[in-house]
Amino acid sequence: MPDLPPVPSIITDLDQNVQSVLSRIADVSDTAALDALESETLGKSGLIVSARKAIGEVSPTERKLVGMAVQESRTSIEQALADRRQFLAQGERALRLQSERMDLTEVIGTPSVGHIHPLTQAWEELEDTFIGMGFRVAEGPHVETDWHNFDALNIPKGHPARDAFDSLYVNNGEPGSTVLRTHTSPVQIRTMLEQEPPIYIVAPGRVFRRDTADATHLPVFHQLEGLVVDRNIGLADLAGTIESFTKAFFGEGFTSRLRPNYFPFTEPSAEFDIQRPDGSWLELGGCGVVHPNVLKAGGIDPEEWSGFAFGFGIDRFLSIKNGVDDIRDAFTNDIRFLQQF
Ligand code: DAH
Repeated sequence: MPDLPPVPSIITDLDQNVQSVLSRIADVSDTAALDALESETLGKSGLIVSARKAIGEVSPTERKLVGMAVQESRTSIEQALADRRQFLAQGERALRLQSERMDLTEVIGTPSVGHIHPLTQAWEELEDTFIGMGFRVAEGPHVETDWHNFDALNIPKGHPARDAFDSLYVNNGEPGSTVLRTHTSPVQIRTMLEQEPPIYIVAPGRVFRRDTADATHLPVFHQLEGLVVDRNIGLADLAGTIESFTKAFFGEGFTSRLRPNYFPFTEPSAEFDIQRPDGSWLELGGCGVVHPNVLKAGGIDPEEWSGFAFGFGIDRFLSIKNGVDDIRDAFTNDIRFLQQF
């Protein structure tokens, strides 16, 4: 084994200095201090630069050795700085996140729980009441044919009753052939065309009329339609059903009455009122014995079957039950209004 040349003292000194720099790097606790340490060691008057200057002073045989040692020292300091910098950055980021964290539960407070809109509440209670009386819930489209909305209900073109409905027509097909349904009565026709009697249905839903909104009217409102078709159904069955409904929905203290009226789709026709426990009367809706022409339009033989129908607005229930005196308030989605129900 050839004798190794002695390690020049400049290298052992450098090693020692590098070791102390590395341990200082490991102790640094913030990036600003690390920046300072970096310029102190790698900067112009740092130990690497002075070691490099010293290369010129050693003998040519040692020069290569010293050069490599300086290069290695530089690399290991740079590496230690980079590692420490990354470690500190992670910690500082975590600290910053922690300090910037917002406790949103404190800002919002206890979240409040919403509830069903008062109109939907009334709608669902009505469905429940009628289901309890043996009815089924039926549906029909908002966009209707003029035939289902009028003709089939014994309101042919030119019939004066058409004027009572301020209809909104839809630009579809023949002019005047498509309408936003003005009432839920066309669901009677659709149900009869779809199913054989006996029929016991209620059809709650949205209806549309060319009306200016005021405290008691909206151009979009809600009705509930009822239809019964069975054998030997007459006016007494209608009166009894209205009375049972009145008691079941409003309470035992309420009663109902029928007053003669006119509707093209029923004969005879009536208006039905309910009486509150304080004796006052409230007009609720229309009803009657289904006109033979309507049964025929629904594909049902009026010689074999007969029926009754009724229809009333649901929106008014908000004012009746909850004392809402401007119906527009119910549909502006003002949370201060809705929270009361
Ligand atoms: N469709 C009528 C309206 O909107 C209400 C109505 C009256 C419905 C009598 C009926 C009925 O089923 O028999 O004014």
